[in-house]
Order: sequence, then structure tokens, then C-alpha cells
Amino acid sequence: MQQLRRNRRLRTNDAIRSLVREHTITPHDFLVPLFVVEGKGIKEEILSMPGYYRYSLDVLKNEVKALWSLGLKSVLLFVKVLDGLKDNKGTEALNADGLMQRAIKTVKETTPDMLVMTDVALDPYSSYGHDGIVENGYVVNDETCKILAEISLSHAQAGADFVAPSDMMDGRILAIRELLEKENFKNTGIMSYSAKYASAFYGPFRDALDSAPVEMLHVPKDKKTYQMDVANRDEAIKETLIDIEEGADIVMVKPGLCYLDIVRDVRDVVDVPVAVYQVSGEYAMLKAAAEKGWLDHDAVMLEQIMAFKRAGAHIIASYFAKDVVRLLG
Ligand code: PBG
Repeated sequence: MQQLRRNRRLRTNDAIRSLVREHTITPHDFLVPLFVVEGKGIKEEILSMPGYYRYSLDVLKNEVKALWSLGLKSVLLFVKVLDGLKDNKGTEALNADGLMQRAIKTVKETTPDMLVMTDVALDPYSSYGHDGIVENGYVVNDETCKILAEISLSHAQAGADFVAPSDMMDGRILAIRELLEKENFKNTGIMSYSAKYASAFYGPFRDALDSAPVEMLHVPKDKKTYQMDVANRDEAIKETLIDIEEGADIVMVKPGLCYLDIVRDVRDVVDVPVAVYQVSGEYAMLKAAAEKGWLDHDAVMLEQIMAFKRAGAHIIASYFAKDVVRLLG
């Protein structure tokens, strides 16, 4: 048969490629993670995340203004807590004048329309580096959920628009939703880290916040009793659907690139927005390869972001957000 169908016709030049392109990247796709520290005038680079920084609150103001001017309208806040303030129950997380609560207010005062999401988990506050309370070598579930709900309420009171529980305890979304409703924070949303895997890609993040699980007898050495087994795919759907039932407004898959199958699976079955988190280790890998001259940084970065969109993500949490948006021009 004579060749009639030629797929390459749709790739002949830039104009036709643009016309038939299925996905595009815009500043509206991004959620920008921000690391906050105590102090003044601080902008310190994270060793394992070149080009990414921790900011003290005064410097944070400039950063959020810069993000806003680039069209980046949503941030996800993380705090590095002073060692002396850490304990097993993450007591400091409930301090109405704690670093997170002040960070929320700082962003809202500086850029009132910026959407503020906050990470909710015990690990930055935990003397053991765990997302929940450790008892007899186990991270206990229900007691942890109670505290996570109280932390969420405290963030809402400080002005957070969304709380983002990243702990993977069972029932935490329900606990958080019920307390927020009861206290009349009916419009405070929940973005649940619903399918969060026990991944080795979080290493640089734990450096950034000094939040790695400690090496100690009777303390779990990893997060495998709460974060998901990397071997599981169907389980991600179960986790996600339960979180939606419990009241999650947005669900998330984490990490990103190695979990694009999960992003697509989730996208196909849910009726809420799907977020993906391109985590610290993914950022570090590309930075390292680019530093060595082995990969074209910008091209690979854009290719990865496009992969998230193609997989079905509505929202991308990424340390590359600013670089990408600058590149888009
Ligand atoms: C805390 C939390 C982690 C990340 C986001 N929230 C680390 C962990 O679960 O150990 C990882 C983010 C990243 O690696 O970029 N619960």
C-alpha cells in the first residue's frame, strides 16, 4: 500500500508543532516550596540542593515578592526548627508564635493574595525526626492524628489557606477536617499527601531541615511503617480514595518522576485536583549532572515538568518553579 499517513507532517516546523501540542507549562501550574529559618538577613544555600535556600523571615519577604512578580501565586511552607525546641510530641508546632505561624503571617502581610499552604507533620519538630509520636519503637497513629489536627488549626488561625499533611497516618484527614469545621475554619483547605512513598529521594530535604530520623535504639530507623512501600501501585488508589472520602480537597503523589504511573492512575479515578511533588532528590540529581556538564539543565528540567503534566498532574510542587517560569519568559 502506498504510504498515506505520515505522522511527521505534524512535526514539520515549530508552528505546526505548537498548534498540535497537547500540554503547556504555565506559572499557574506551580506550588513553590519555601524553607524558613530563625534569624535575620539569612539566605543560606542548602548543601545538597545547589541554588536553593533557607530564608529568615525578613529575607522571605523579598523572595515572595519576587515569586509574585513572576506569576507564581502559591507557596508551600516548611520550617527548620531549632534543636532545643524539639521533643517527641512536636510541642513547638503548636506555638501560636512559632516560626511557621510567623512565616504564614509574614507571607500574608507581604503578598496578601499569595496562596499559603503549610506542611503539617511532626518531623521538623521531633527530637527523633519522625512524622509522629514514637512509643516503644513505633510511630503511634491516633495520638499523632490528634496533634496533626491541632497543628492544622494553629496554621489556619495564623492565616494559612491550605494545610498539607505529609505524614501518612491513617485517619488524619478526617481528624483535621473535623477540627477545622468545628472551629469554623470551613474554607481552610486540605491538600493531602495521599500517596507518599517511603522514598530515598527525600535525602536532601532532610538535610535542609535537619529532620532525618535519628539513629537510636527503640527509634524506627526509617519511615516504612507509615509511608508507602515503593513496590505498590494499587495501594495508591486505596490511600487516595480514603483521603478524599475523609475530606481532602487536593490529593498528591510523591515523589514525582519515578511515580508517573501513580499520577496517571490517580488522575484517572479521582474528581479532585491532583498534585505531584518533584522532591529534593530529583532536584539534586539534575543539578549534579548539570554541574558535571553531563545534562543540559534547562532542557531536561522542562522535559521533566512536561512529563508531570502529561501524566495528568494539575499542580506541580517543584524547586525548579522559579527557573522554569523565568525560562518561559
Ligand atoms: C515531611 C516531609 C518530607 C518531605 C516533605 N514533607 C520528608 C519526609 O517525609 O521524610 C520531602 C520533600 C522533599 O524531599 O523535597 N513529612
